Parts: sequence; structure tokens; C-alpha cells
Amino acid sequence: MAKPTEGAARGPIRSDKRESGQARHARLYVNGLDRPIELPILKPSLGQDVIDIGRLTGKGYFTYDPGFVSTASCDSNITFIDGDAGTLLHRGYPIEQLAEQSDFLELCYLLLHGGLPSAADKAAFNAAVMSERGVPDGVRAMIAQFSPGAHPMGIMTALTGALAAEYHEGLDITDEADRMATAQRLIAKMPSLAALTYRHGKGKGYLAPRDDLNYAENFLYTTFAEDENYEINPVIARAMDRIFMLHADHEQNASTSTVRLAGSTGTNPYSAIAAGIAALWGPSHGGANEAVLQMLAEIGSPENIDTFVAKAKDKDDPFRIMGFGHRVYKNYDPRAKVMQETCHEVLAELGVESDPMLVMAQRLEKIALEDEYFIERRLYPNVDFYSGITLKAVGIPTEMFTVIFTTGRTPGWIAHWREMVSEPYKIGRPRQLYLGQTKRDYVPIEHRP
Ligand code: CMC
Repeated sequence: MAKPTEGAARGPIRSDKRESGQARHARLYVNGLDRPIELPILKPSLGQDVIDIGRLTGKGYFTYDPGFVSTASCDSNITFIDGDAGTLLHRGYPIEQLAEQSDFLELCYLLLHGGLPSAADKAAFNAAVMSERGVPDGVRAMIAQFSPGAHPMGIMTALTGALAAEYHEGLDITDEADRMATAQRLIAKMPSLAALTYRHGKGKGYLAPRDDLNYAENFLYTTFAEDENYEINPVIARAMDRIFMLHADHEQNASTSTVRLAGSTGTNPYSAIAAGIAALWGPSHGGANEAVLQMLAEIGSPENIDTFVAKAKDKDDPFRIMGFGHRVYKNYDPRAKVMQETCHEVLAELGVESDPMLVMAQRLEKIALEDEYFIERRLYPNVDFYSGITLKAVGIPTEMFTVIFTTGRTPGWIAHWREMVSEPYKIGRPRQLYLGQTKRDYVPIEHRP
């Protein structure tokens, strides 16, 4: 694989770091310095102004911001979130409109290319993705080494890492054609790996995708079918497509930032995405959809909800209401609204609207939304609150939920990786506030107490 060149020629994607016309600056006054440090203020196309602290290190200071609570780690043109308004835009288009009128592969195109495709571009993109759905023999053979009870997210991390080994040769990350081919291949292969992982857990072999089925239909077919006669339910297929769409991108979340950080070393993009999958697994991130169902099972019945809400509010108890709260959204997550509608559609189609999990989730949501603790902290349901119930109804086992998130998030990860490596970029290398021992001399073992 060719090495990235720092300062390489810019690719077709460009981010304009907008310094405001009259060069607004922030002034940082530090005791002991005779002059304030001037920090440029960058103007985004949407959202809050950003103070550029990049040159601060030359003055002898770093900044301290654990959890990146106040830090923009990069500039990006892909996705915008207004957490106070509860707005999510992909390349400017609201998620609600995309979920209603578009489809997952068109959204993948949009994330990658920056605009909606013409009919011809859409057909060409879909064909390119569809041609890459197969799983290499080596990767297929590898899955047999996992025990039937192995966690699907562990398997997905490993299989994606294996793709890095399979597709290492001939991958030039400075070449736009290679970057786009990689993006299409990953988007294509992820549902195939997900289906393979599910079937492994059920003791079933690989089922090749069919040319007459679309992306979501093929996912359902390769996951659940016993043979060619498997009937696709169009309502469920549409819901599946929408679930992938709702997870497609969410700007600089933990897993996307992981992909960017790993990718900034110039590593193989399949490896960077394997790192992203590992980050997504955690219950504070993508693992929350699995944790929501575990929590509902633990609550057991509606009369126990008050006890669990009290536990969530108790600072001495680590319990949290899973599927509630978000670092950026301080309003209803717009994805949660669409997911709630999708959940009702799926449950109605399957005739299980009175599913006790759904009844309990709705009760819990109502109680939490009326509770002072949640109101004060602006904690609302996030996308994971209803996705688990929907996926359960579709027949996806709980431990596969985050695998579905992985499949949906892949275009976002690869779009961010591509955006980064298409421009000059630096290796990500945060600094630290060191609070450990000062310098001291080594003590030979015979002189230690
Ligand atoms: N239940 C009860 N209290 C909560 C919850 C919750 N789910 N979430 C946050 N809080 C409280 C928290 O205890 C804190 O209270 P206080 O100010 O009194 O100390 C306050 O709200 C702020 O929380 P925080 O932990 O400082 O917020 P954060 O931005 O660091 O964490 C979060 C965001 C999503 C990790 C957190 O809300 C959480 O753990 N939620 C449950 C897990 C979950 O649903 N995660 C999925 C996120 S959306 C899918 C994705 O994009 O990955």
C-alpha cells in the first residue's frame, strides 16, 4: 500500500476553513506574558464559531478538554447537527426528508459525493456496490474458527480486519479511484459479513446475495433465508433500509473519530474501520441498542419502572436509562422520531403492536420525559431507544443489534476517512496534562523496602 504524503495534492473534496472576513480574533491573556495571544475565530457555514488554537503550542501552552467536550477535532463538509434544535443534516438535507424519500444506497452516494445522484449516476453507483457484495474465501473460512456463541461484534471486528489483509496489495490511498473503490467495497461487504455472522451463530452456511434484490432485501435474504423461495416482506425491507439510513452518519462521534485517528496514521482503511467497529461496540455508543433491550428485560414489567427511574437518578447507582441522553442532542434526537414511527409500522405489520417491550418502552419514555431530573439535564430518547424493539420484531437477536448499526454506519466512516485523506492531513496526536511522578532515580531491587 502506498504511503500517504502529507501535503499531497488536494482531492476533489475541499473544506473551506472560513476565517471571518474581518479576521475576528479571540485574545488569550496569560499571567506572565507581556502580550495576549491572538487566536483566529473560524466561521462555519452552520453552527457555532470555532476558536483556532492550533498555534497555541508555539507559545508554550496546550489546552485541556477531556472527552473533547469543547473541541472540534477537524473540519468537515459531510454532516451537521444542531443539538439544541434537534436537527441532523447530511450534505444539507434533513434526515427526516432523506428517510422518507431517499434510500440507503442513495444516502451512501450523497455522503461520499456531496450531492444527490442523477438517475444514471445512481444506477452506476448501485451496480458498482452490488458487484462487490461477495465475501472472499479466506474471510468466509475464518468464521468457522469462532465458537457458535462468539459475540457477533467481536467477529465483525475480526472479519473487517481480515478484509484489510485481503485488500492490502494495490491499495493506494492517495489515488481517488482506489479510495472510491474501497468505499463501495466496504458498503457492499458489510451486510454480507453481518449475514454471515448471524448464520454462523445459527450453525448455517453462507448464502450468496441475489441480483434481483436491493440492498436491504438482500440483507434480509442472506440473513434469514433457508433457500431461494424466501419471501421478502416489503414493509420490513423498507424498515430495514430506513434503519441503515438512520445510522449512516453522525459527524465526529466516538467511532468516526476513531476511524479518523487510526486513518491519520496512513493505515489501511479497512483496519481504520475495524478500529471504528471496536469503538462502536461500547454501551455508551452503538452498544446502547443492545443495552436498551437488556434494560427492558431487567425492568421486567411496567410497575417496576418507577424504581428504575429512581435508580437512574441516584448518583450512587451506576444505572442509566439506556437509549436516553446524548452528548450533542439536548432535544429529541430527530432519528429517534423516525425510528419510533418505523417501530410502529413494523409492529403493526407483524401484528405485535402490544409487544410488552414496546408498551414498557413507551411508559418509560413518558415517565422520564415528565421527570424534573431528565427535563433539567435535557435528556431525551436517542436513536437506540426504539431501534432495539424494531430489530427484535424483525427477528434480529439482541447481540446482533450493534452489527446492524455497524452496517448502517459504514458509509459515514468511509466518507469521513476519504474526506480526511483527500486533503493534506496530519497524524492525530493529542497531548496530555501529566499528573504523574516527577523525575526520580531507579532503585535496585535489593534496596527496595
Ligand atoms: N440516564 C440517567 N442519567 C443520565 C443519562 C441517562 N441515560 N445520561 C446522562 N445522564 C445524566 C448524567 O448522570 C449527568 O448528570 P449530572 O450532571 O447530575 O452529573 C448528566 O445527565 C450529563 O451526562 P454526561 O454523562 O455528562 O453526558 P455525556 O455527554 O458525557 O454522555 C451519553 C452522553 C450518551 C454517553 C449518556 O447520555 C449516556 O450514557 N446515555 C445512555 C447510553 C446511550 O443511550 N448511548 C447511546 C448514545 S446515541 C447513539 C450513538 O450515537 O452512539
